[in-house]
Amino acid sequence: MTEESRKSIHGQWSSRLAFILAATGSAVGLGNIWKFPYITGENGGGAFVLVYLLCIALIGIPVMMSEILIGRRGRRSPINTMRMLAAEEGIPKLWVLLGWAGVVAGFLILSYYSVIAGWAVAYVFRAASGVFTGVTADGIGAMFGDLVGNPEAQLGWHTIFMVMTTMVVARGVRSGLEAAVRFLMPGLFVLLLVLLGFSMNTGYFEQGLDFMFSVDFSKLSTAAVLTAMGHAFFTLSLGMGAIMVYGSYLSRNTSIAKTSVVIALLDTLVALIAGMAIFPIVFANGLEPASGPGLIFQTLPLAFGHMPGGVLFGTLFFVLLVFAAWTSAISLIEPAVAWLVENRDMNRVRAATLVGMITWLLGIVTILSFNRWAFEFDFAGETKGSGIFDILDILTSNIMLPLGGLAMAIFAGWMMKKTSVVDELKMGEGMLFKAWYVVVRYVTPVAVGIVFLNLVGVVRF
Ligand code: PFF
Repeated sequence: MTEESRKSIHGQWSSRLAFILAATGSAVGLGNIWKFPYITGENGGGAFVLVYLLCIALIGIPVMMSEILIGRRGRRSPINTMRMLAAEEGIPKLWVLLGWAGVVAGFLILSYYSVIAGWAVAYVFRAASGVFTGVTADGIGAMFGDLVGNPEAQLGWHTIFMVMTTMVVARGVRSGLEAAVRFLMPGLFVLLLVLLGFSMNTGYFEQGLDFMFSVDFSKLSTAAVLTAMGHAFFTLSLGMGAIMVYGSYLSRNTSIAKTSVVIALLDTLVALIAGMAIFPIVFANGLEPASGPGLIFQTLPLAFGHMPGGVLFGTLFFVLLVFAAWTSAISLIEPAVAWLVENRDMNRVRAATLVGMITWLLGIVTILSFNRWAFEFDFAGETKGSGIFDILDILTSNIMLPLGGLAMAIFAGWMMKKTSVVDELKMGEGMLFKAWYVVVRYVTPVAVGIVFLNLVGVVRF
């Protein structure tokens, strides 16, 4: 295959930095600021955080390298990349199913992601209107309850967010995706530091740190280990083709290993800072760490309501949270849109609109799962309270993404020829390469396998 035919028809990132920003934009999102704190709260803190960090380092980074290398080698939407590489490497065509599974996961994840992002949009307006000023924990709880109890209002916010997402994806790789992330990610980071500063002065900072970092393995359940592993995939956007499709727009001479490490570090930093900012506020106000998906929507307004300049900082913060969600959302539907452009001869605008509409419809299920359709159920010994939303979340992050990531590790480690992998990674065949190869061939499959066997009760730990 010539160099020329290995260019994506969708364009390329303008530089290595542009790719890092876009991939970090995809990685850093609601997963870091909304989900990480609430699942840490639900799963008892320290031990959960430790398992999560181990999963990022031992599974996340190596899988990310595999996913980027597959994408860059294929230079097409994940579905067509899998089809083409299977032919090129002489392996079963069935691998194309991995591309399809990713597209399905993208639809499912975005359908609920957009509803939560819609809450963040609503909170921009609430913060700006000053309703948080001086408010009590009960008052904030009631406000949150009003929102999630009202399907019509949520539908409105979800619609706004889906229109925003569709618009950027319609504009394409450079002018759409790249332009958005350049300023927004640094801005988000600065505001998180402002929040952290506030939390340090609550008098409960140490208690927050203690909750997050003192490890007590007796609190670690099977479900918690599965959740930690699933979240490592979710937060790094791995296992469904989002990072693969971004990799397909990456120039040939960028180091995949270095960029993967940078992206994972930035992502982890944001999550840890978010946790360190949020838990002190939880304890200072007598809130419950395990209060579920509403956690940041009940803690952060309290912080903003009691800090000088809170209206301004609060508004800015929720604006940036929306942006972080936005740069993640676009990557969730890019695989489907790229496939429609390649195979159905659609232009990007039509493809993005079609995908956006399907996701929007699916989102209604999540909206209703917080109110009219709410029900409780038990999962691996834990009670979940938000019906279909929780099922979608468990199915996608805890099951589909780890299985997808596992398949990608196997594809790069066992299916592709070693020469192709070495050629694409461009890091020689020294120690680092060897370490990566062992991890994707043995460590990742065994680790993911054990967690699943444990879940279905074949092994116990
Ligand atoms: N990584 C995103 C977050 O942490 O919010 C969510 C996400 C984006 C998951 C893209 C999966 C994905 F493919």
